[in-house]
Amino acid sequence: MDFIDLPPLLSARGTLRLPGSKSLSNRVLLLAALADGETEVRDLLESDDTARMLEALLALGVDVVPLGDSAYRVCGCGGVFPVKEADLFLGNAGTAFRSLTAVLALSGGHYRLSGVARMHERPIGDLVDALRQIGADIRYAGNEGFPPLEICSAKGHGIFAPGTVVSVRGDVSSQFLTGLLMALPLIGVEATVEVVGELISRPYIEITLATMARFGVQVVREGGQRFTIPAGCTYRSPGVIYVEGDASSASYFLALGAIGARAGQAVRVEGVGRDSIQGDVRFADALARMGARIEMGPNWIEASAPHSGKLHGIELDCRQIPDAAMTLATTALFAEGTTTLTRIASWRVKETDRIAAMATELRKLGAEVEEGVDFIRVTPPQAKLLTPESGIDTYEDHRIAMCFSLATLATTLRINDPGCVTKTFPGYFESFARVTQAVPVIAIDGPSASGKGTVAARVAAALGWHYLDSGALYRLTALAARRAGVAWDDEARVAAIASGLDVEFGENSIRLSGAEAGEAIRQEDISSGASQVAALPAVRAALLFRQRVFRQAPGLVADGRDMASLVFPDAQTKVFLTASVEVRAQRRYKQLIEKGITASILPLLLDLRERDERDSQRSVAPLQQNKEAELLDTTDLTIEQAVAQVLVWSSKVS
Ligand code: DC
Repeated sequence: MDFIDLPPLLSARGTLRLPGSKSLSNRVLLLAALADGETEVRDLLESDDTARMLEALLALGVDVVPLGDSAYRVCGCGGVFPVKEADLFLGNAGTAFRSLTAVLALSGGHYRLSGVARMHERPIGDLVDALRQIGADIRYAGNEGFPPLEICSAKGHGIFAPGTVVSVRGDVSSQFLTGLLMALPLIGVEATVEVVGELISRPYIEITLATMARFGVQVVREGGQRFTIPAGCTYRSPGVIYVEGDASSASYFLALGAIGARAGQAVRVEGVGRDSIQGDVRFADALARMGARIEMGPNWIEASAPHSGKLHGIELDCRQIPDAAMTLATTALFAEGTTTLTRIASWRVKETDRIAAMATELRKLGAEVEEGVDFIRVTPPQAKLLTPESGIDTYEDHRIAMCFSLATLATTLRINDPGCVTKTFPGYFESFARVTQAVPVIAIDGPSASGKGTVAARVAAALGWHYLDSGALYRLTALAARRAGVAWDDEARVAAIASGLDVEFGENSIRLSGAEAGEAIRQEDISSGASQVAALPAVRAALLFRQRVFRQAPGLVADGRDMASLVFPDAQTKVFLTASVEVRAQRRYKQLIEKGITASILPLLLDLRERDERDSQRSVAPLQQNKEAELLDTTDLTIEQAVAQVLVWSSKVS
């Protein structure tokens, strides 16, 4: 499975320009397509969901021209799509599916709308029922009440009676009401929508009404349940329209600041703020209730950690911020006490059943979680967060991937299928890295017996950092395989041993399954076995995450062969430490004699040459000087000189 390993963080700070709002992007595109005249849409979100809408509009004959830099020119069709028969695939884009269903049902034509399997599990019956009340001919092509749909709408402009009233349920998805509101100006007569039952996610209706107003249609509201589109309203291009930054996407960065931005620092998002029309900006209020320090300007928001350093749990009715509320569930991992998020029933019908998914994944981190039909209650673990080796599963849900990235403020984290973020935020992890400071790593690679272990351990001691002797993991694997009677070239079984290794690294000890193994793994035959098992790709894959978990605050010094290239490619300092093979053979000889082990130089020299050859010629992670690494040739250096040189290099980047 595809995954990303995110490093643990020291802190968060910096400024981020948000990508355009998904909700606004798809509304603006559709209304620009329906309007009279050309619209230049700027700062459009470039993501899977908007790509589905753009493809659909092109298939419907709308002329959309990319202008570069997230700008598009949309030539409006004046309410009548040129193409009257089309098959539209809308992926898992709820905003596109619901609004196009309503618009196409009232625009006269024959259309088939489908999506991915999950889209076909997301209800649409309430919207179809509402549209049928006014004569739309919509059939379910799969299961009753769910996409895919076939729309055979002969109805078009001019055949509706003035004063048409449509009622729609408001308690499953606000996108049904949004779809109806956006579609009704097409029928050319006064029309009223009555919401039956409670209207959830009300802020999204505000976004719909505000966007319609920008395109010249003023909806008349009576309370929160009746919306009237006056006679004669048609969409007109506003000329140029800018899409606001995505307030839901802002939530991850604001939470980062609230947990990880220490005194005098903050995480600032630009593109949304006090003047935003998106309800999810209210997420900042929820963070403030948890104790975060929040500042807001017209189009920016800043968050930093409480003076006390620690957030506290809250109970919150989340109807106003359904999407951003997911971020509160992971923020709760860093709060004192319990956080309870209520009125979140809509989570169950989103990209996945978000309540169930969040509960499962939060538990993997050690949280105590209680879930109900429409609530989730999260209590962080007493001690540290756990570091699940199997990773966090994301259920093809962009928001799960993004909100769990916050856990890196406490631990290394593997996120499975991270590509799902492209639904609303391509480049999310790069943006995340830009406003966070990862725990630093000094990576020291080099050949056997070059002295890199000694140098690395001393550098770690000098800095008060952790130390990873990655070679020891390969040696332990070879030793454990030998003890289990598994041949060193039996890739699958050696890899299984590597993933199950029960090891404990102490100050001066290495324990394998509870017994001291420091001496045993340094024996010459185990050295040779380590070199053999290290050439097996499955063994390297099995040890990858285990090595990354050694990265802990305040820093890590790691030695091996592929520290700089593969295990810690983002290491701040990279060193390639070597010495002539003759000097290395002499050093190894001296070490053995000091330990009372009989040895002679020539076989040691030949053995080192053979291992150098195998380590540097193997197909996976061969020993090579990384192009970013400093070369440290210790042939003529003392250990102290080598240590001092590494410290100088590392101080230059810290
Ligand atoms: O550094 P060392 O001699 O203890 O390493 C033992 C073996 O493991 C050596 O043959 C190379 C291999 N190794 C590796 O392939 N990758 C690492 N990161 C560390 C060691």
